[in-house]
Amino acid sequence: MKVFIILSFIINLVCPTVYNYHVFVYGTLKKGQPNHSIIINTTIGQAEFLSHARTVEQYPLVIATKNNYPFLLNVPGKGKLVHGEIYSVDQKMLDFLDEFEECPELYQRTKVQLEVQDGDGEGENTLKPGSIEEAFLYSTNTYEPEWLQKPTYDNYDTNGDHGLPYHEDTSPE
Ligand SMILES: *[C@@H]1O[C@H](CO)[C@@H](O)[C@H](O)[C@H]1NC(C)=O
Ligand SMILES: *[C@@H]1O[C@H](CO)[C@@H](O)[C@H](O)[C@H]1NC(C)=O
Repeated sequence: MKVFIILSFIINLVCPTVYNYHVFVYGTLKKGQPNHSIIINTTIGQAEFLSHARTVEQYPLVIATKNNYPFLLNVPGKGKLVHGEIYSVDQKMLDFLDEFEECPELYQRTKVQLEVQDGDGEGENTLKPGSIEEAFLYSTNTYEPEWLQKPTYDNYDTNGDHGLPYHEDTSPE
């Protein structure tokens, strides 16, 4: 046991686990949502949950397209304060997320200001409740104008009472 602790200490010194990027997820990647398995898949890359958080500014989070994708429209000041989760991810995971989010065609990755809600993250990298953090956000500028008229949500749940569950539908339009 002692040997193990000393060994893991040395390994951590020599090759520390480097999670370079903070990413805010508000949709299907959150805990309990249909694509959360991506975040916890270590074959894809490394990710560590840091905290729940809420956007400092309001954004319209809407559900759109035939697949009922959650989209955060890049229109700060409209919609609601959006709840989600901050993860620390490595380059491999960030690259996969860019691909998954069809960035930059469908979603664009920008930085957003967040208010940390709880510090129940794993390990020592937990964030301080109430502090303001910056993280990457996948939102979109390439939305249909009528999406601005859709109902907005503050806390996405695929099985919410909106009745618009997310699904991958490969049939043609
Ligand atoms: C995301 O979730 C949808 C719906 O469950 C699924 O069809 C799709 O394969 C998932 N994508 C990835 C990359 O896991
Ligand atoms: C993890 O990702 C790999 C590579 O994309 C995939 O082959 C594997 O099925 C995934 N595992 C789980 C549990 O989703």
